[in-house]
Amino acid sequence: MEKLLIIGANGFLGRKLLYRFHDKFDVYGADLITTGIPEEYHPSYIDISKKNVVNDLINIIKPNLTILTAAMTNVDACEDFSEKAKKINSDGPLFVAQALKDIGGRLIHISTDFIFDGEQGDYTEKDIPKPISVYGKTKLEGENNILKQKIPVVICRTSVLFGWPEADQRHNFFSWAYENLSKKKELKIISGQITTPTLVNDLVEFLYQISGFTRSEIYHTCGTEAISRYNFILKLIRTFNFDQNLLKEIDFLPQKAKRPNNSSLNTAKIQQIGNWKFKNINKSFQYLKSQNKNSK
Ligand SMILES: NC(=O)c1ccc[n+]([C@@H]2O[C@H](COP(=O)([O-])OP(=O)(O)OC[C@H]3O[C@@H](n4cnc5c(N)ncnc54)[C@H](OP(=O)(O)O)[C@@H]3O)[C@@H](O)[C@H]2O)c1
Repeated sequence: MEKLLIIGANGFLGRKLLYRFHDKFDVYGADLITTGIPEEYHPSYIDISKKNVVNDLINIIKPNLTILTAAMTNVDACEDFSEKAKKINSDGPLFVAQALKDIGGRLIHISTDFIFDGEQGDYTEKDIPKPISVYGKTKLEGENNILKQKIPVVICRTSVLFGWPEADQRHNFFSWAYENLSKKKELKIISGQITTPTLVNDLVEFLYQISGFTRSEIYHTCGTEAISRYNFILKLIRTFNFDQNLLKEIDFLPQKAKRPNNSSLNTAKIQQIGNWKFKNINKSFQYLKSQNKNSK
């Protein structure tokens, strides 16, 4: 059986990947904190910003495939701690790719829609990135650092991952709103910031399907519907029968990092390569509703 190393295995996407791949691979999970990684996935400490730590772990495991989800994902914290963001989001992918080059391993790297400036929207894989935040800039550098190593790699750019987190995990935009609406708390949601939100389970399935890839590619792997933050929550409210009066639309939100106005991604390329589909928002919410016994 081939070995799969998931780096960032304690995170939102990483944890879901652990549970999906075990019939196809001997799965290894690594992260800064490993408490949420079950023993059967060989939990290991890794700090991707430290070259020697990355080298040592990759040389011990010798994975055939690595999925790199680890990143500094707090967009505002990246502005405050830009050196740290560079080390994790830019240097980290370089160290991983260099170590994989030495052992002949393949890589799937998770990137972001925030590498675009958001002036255009509906970005294809051929559009030129122009990040407007430290997070976007360092994630783009991470992509470029990997590509320069010329290893077999698929770069998957995704957008606003949502779904049910595990009990010990941070909220995502969906679960945060769901939690607050359940407690009848008012939500002030910005009218703009158009993205292509992505059901995390759909991304996991896509990665599972392409895990045997033989050609290096960049893919836009996200939901098929471009939607504003406000309209996303409006659909959530309607699906889960929350009180719509709890939702207030605002046109400005003080945030440290600049957000793209419209960073929606075009998914035509991935729609041509497989017999599967990322769901639209309504179908994603229906899926999540069916997964949660406590939903209204
Ligand atoms: N979530 C989204 O909406 C979204 C949208 C577009 C793209 N993406 C990309 O998708 C990927 C997965 O996102 P996610 O939501 O699963 O993120 P996440 O929940 O924050 O998971 C990332 C994991 O990486 C860990 N990590 C941070 N620094 C590390 C380091 N130096 N060495 C090793 N591990 C480190 C984090 O630990 P700590 O929690 O302890 O820091 C966390 O467990 C990321 O690459 C992100 O850039 C995410």
